[in-house]
Amino acid sequence: MTGRRQLLAGLGGAGGALAVAGRPGWADEDAAGRQVADAPTGHADAAESVPFYGPHQAGIVTPRPANGIVAACDVVAGTPDELERMFRTLTQRLAFLTRGGIPPELDPRLPPSDSGILGPVIPPDNLTVTVGLGASLFERLPWLLPHMPRRLQRMTQFPNDALDRELCHGDMSLQFCANLQDTNIHALRDIMKTLAGFLVLRWVQEGDVPVIPPNPDGTTESARNFLGFRDGSANPDSNDAGLMADIVWIDGRNDEPSWVHGGTYQAVRIIRNFVERWDRTPLSEQEAIFGRRKASGAPFDGETESDVPDYTRDPAGTVTPLDAHIRLANPRTPQSRENLMLRRPFNYSNGVTRAGQLDQGLLFITYQADLEKGFIAVQTRLNGEPLEEYIKPVGGGYFVVLPGVRDAGDYLGRSLVEAVRSTPTPPT
Ligand code: HEM
Repeated sequence: MTGRRQLLAGLGGAGGALAVAGRPGWADEDAAGRQVADAPTGHADAAESVPFYGPHQAGIVTPRPANGIVAACDVVAGTPDELERMFRTLTQRLAFLTRGGIPPELDPRLPPSDSGILGPVIPPDNLTVTVGLGASLFERLPWLLPHMPRRLQRMTQFPNDALDRELCHGDMSLQFCANLQDTNIHALRDIMKTLAGFLVLRWVQEGDVPVIPPNPDGTTESARNFLGFRDGSANPDSNDAGLMADIVWIDGRNDEPSWVHGGTYQAVRIIRNFVERWDRTPLSEQEAIFGRRKASGAPFDGETESDVPDYTRDPAGTVTPLDAHIRLANPRTPQSRENLMLRRPFNYSNGVTRAGQLDQGLLFITYQADLEKGFIAVQTRLNGEPLEEYIKPVGGGYFVVLPGVRDAGDYLGRSLVEAVRSTPTPPT
């Protein structure tokens, strides 16, 4: 696979600009050619907004801003009409929050229409909110079950997991991303207030990524995770619409119900890092565990982060250990191409555990058109990797991300509601 920065360099940076020229203003392409996991550059402007309308939801191939939250909730809706009402209300709120504006003033004897935590004018601040549905919603509602996407399932326990049930699953996931965490918190509170009759929170995890100003030559770097390594280096090129169509977006090639075309699968994992233990581990061991140099992010047979490792010249693992994280995650064989996915993680720091250790880790988020060939296959290959001594997945879930909202007349989940309505009710 061509490294994404190589590809951009080869195109003279024109790839992103060309992509946008064809379909201006759509949510899934980035004018600056930045990548999903590039570090935010620090030029964030509260007036910047990400288009809400498009064939796909924003917040997936959109370059990741500095802050994110994943919130998982359960849905209180018993009929297709209630589900439609919930989706329409959610869509209205998201269209407003992502565009920004002045919330209506109400009679002071009533609670104010807005929490006010961003002041009287709400800036868009690059906010995106990406909505997914969990298997539990389909399984609980008999009229929804026939429409469940084929690969949607409840996240199971992998051998190294210690899943806390209070941090797992949910009928709906909401991924908030914005320049400032306050913007995400504001949006979360708005949705929880506006949809109080429909949504009950299960768990919330906040995360962020360090801001790194661009290099003098204009190039940008991947952000580092809390183990000190660059994270996102080998992500597929999120500005290559064809590649994203192959890897991320569900379409007619995926053997899925047509209502979900334009959507994708989201895997979320809250992965605790044992940072005290890691900080006492020799550098050479840390690097062997990942298969990359810590300072530069380069693979062992390369010089820079964007160099692509060539495992065919190292079949015995003399240069890059066979059990290195990057080699297991992507052995770069013709067969492993089908396991590619887009990673969009955030670092988290939750204070201290009851055992007096730092509670830090990775809010790991991936997007793929096929959950089984993507996250599940890669995690299965990673089972038993040396990194496991330093990490412990404690929560998360699998969700199917709804197709995008095409315009102001459309609403999130419309294709699902229409599929339900067009299915004859089975005789009782
Ligand atoms: C706390 C847990 C994890 C940490 C700290 C971590 C860290 C890293 C680092 C530093 C890299 C190399 C740079 C890069 O290409 O991004 C990497 C690559 C990668 N990781 Fe992870 N990772 C974690 C968990 C996972 C999990 C759970 C999966 C999937 C199940 C995964 C899949 C990948 C993939 C696919 C690559 C790219 C490999 C390549 O194409 O060369 N990682 N990870």
